[in-house]
Formats: sequence, structure tokens, C-alpha cells
Amino acid sequence: MSEPVLSTRGLKRSFTQGDVTIEVLRGVDLDVQPGEIVALLGPSGSGKSTLLQAVGLLEGGFEGSIRIAGREAASLNDEGRTELRRNALGFVYQFHHLLPEFNARENVVLPQLIHGAETEAALGRAEQLLTALGLGARLDHRPSKLSGGEQQRVAVARALANKPPLVLADEPTGNLDEATADTVLAEFLGLVRGRVVPPLWQPIMSASPQRWTEWFGSTRDCLDSGAGRRRAR
Ligand SMILES: Nc1ncnc2c1ncn2[C@@H]1O[C@H](COP(=O)(O)OP(=O)(O)O)[C@@H](O)[C@H]1O
Ligand SMILES: [Mg+2]
Repeated sequence: MSEPVLSTRGLKRSFTQGDVTIEVLRGVDLDVQPGEIVALLGPSGSGKSTLLQAVGLLEGGFEGSIRIAGREAASLNDEGRTELRRNALGFVYQFHHLLPEFNARENVVLPQLIHGAETEAALGRAEQLLTALGLGARLDHRPSKLSGGEQQRVAVARALANKPPLVLADEPTGNLDEATADTVLAEFLGLVRGRVVPPLWQPIMSASPQRWTEWFGSTRDCLDSGAGRRRAR
């Protein structure tokens, strides 16, 4: 078996407010293999976002080991973590977080330029991804001129643009109505599974509703033992 693209061991995260400490992650052991598409399950408040934030190296404050694409995050300084984030991770959030002053194409081109791509290649890839997501006629639209579903499709294209070894998605369709959410998720997963653009096969770890479980290759319910146990200090 190949090395997991993501591996956590004994991952812990707690939040303290006043004299109450909430242990949200209480030692999560998790492996995601290359090509795996994982739905992270657990009721609201069970720590899905906290886990995705820790794995996304957005902030410190956790204990334990996080290995991404063969590198141990805990051993890196801020600069090293930023570099690992940039090189190894793509993100889709519930809110699109697109840059409002740039159009759809530019929003997908910019992270590629930051990553060192040639302009021509970056433009080509942005158009290929956006067209595959049905936005071929929306390339010059700014986010404010796009529907919610279209904005999330641009966010998906942006997350995939640099072909990161791992894509993290925190309720990527959570702001959309049910029908649009189904369509966007199907397109997202279809794209990653290579149905539209062959060279994309990337693992995803996503917090998503139970009703989509069968759409994913596998599920993890690793949080139920770690969910929101409160402890007075
Ligand atoms: N920054 C924070 N400060 C204090 N408590 C937090 C913070 N972030 C999350 N929590 C708490 O951690 C628990 C898990 O939250 P979260 O990871 O957002 O759950 P989920 O995404 O599964 O709904 C909740 O009880 C929440 O209140
Ligand atoms: Mg959440």
C-alpha cells in the first residue's frame, strides 16, 4: 500500500473559555490514501471544522502528529507550514472567499502564478477547469455577478488549480439550496474522479451531510469519541 497522503496520530485540540475547557479532538488517528474521497461525518459541534482547520495548518494550538504528503507539520516553523499549505493543500469553504475585484478566470489563475506557473499555462488550466464546471461563458464575471452555485464552482476550480495532493472541503455546498448543492457536489466529485478532465485524481476530505454518504468513496466517523466533552478545570 502506498503512503497515506494524510496521516494524523493522537491529534488533540481543546478550547478554553473562562473556567471551562472543551476537548474537541481527543486523539484522532486518521489516514487518507491517495485517491480516496472521504466524507467526514459527525453531528454539528463534533469537531469536523476543527479537524479540517488543524489539518489545513491554519493555526497552531493542536497536539499530536499531522503528516501531509510525507511531511510532519509539527516539525515545521511558520514558514515551512505556509509552504506546505501552499504546495500540498487545496481548500473549499462554505463561503467562497473569492477575491471580489477579480473575475472568475483571474481567481483561478492567481494561485497558480503564486505557485510559480507560467501565465499561459495558468490561463489554460483555469479555462479548462471552469469550462469543465460549466462556467465557460462566465470566465470574465466577477464573483458578485455569479450565482451562489457558480461562485462555489469557481472556488472548486481554484482549489484544484495547483493539483494539490490533498483537497480539504468544509461543507463546500453548505450555503446552497439542496438541488444546487447536489449538482455542485456531483460536479466537484466528478471532476476529481476524472470524469471530465482526466489528469485530476486527488483525495478529498470533506465535512458533508449524511445524505451524501454514498457519493463518497469512504467515510470517517473518527470524531464521535472526541465530541465536545466538557470538563471544568
Ligand atoms: N475558536 C473556538 N473557540 C472556542 N470553542 C470553539 C472554537 N472553535 C470551535 N469550538 C468548539 O468546538 C466544538 C466543535 O466545533 P466545530 O469543529 O465547529 O464542529 P463541527 O464543524 O463538527 O460542527 C464546538 O463545541 C465549538 O463550540
Ligand atoms: Mg463545521
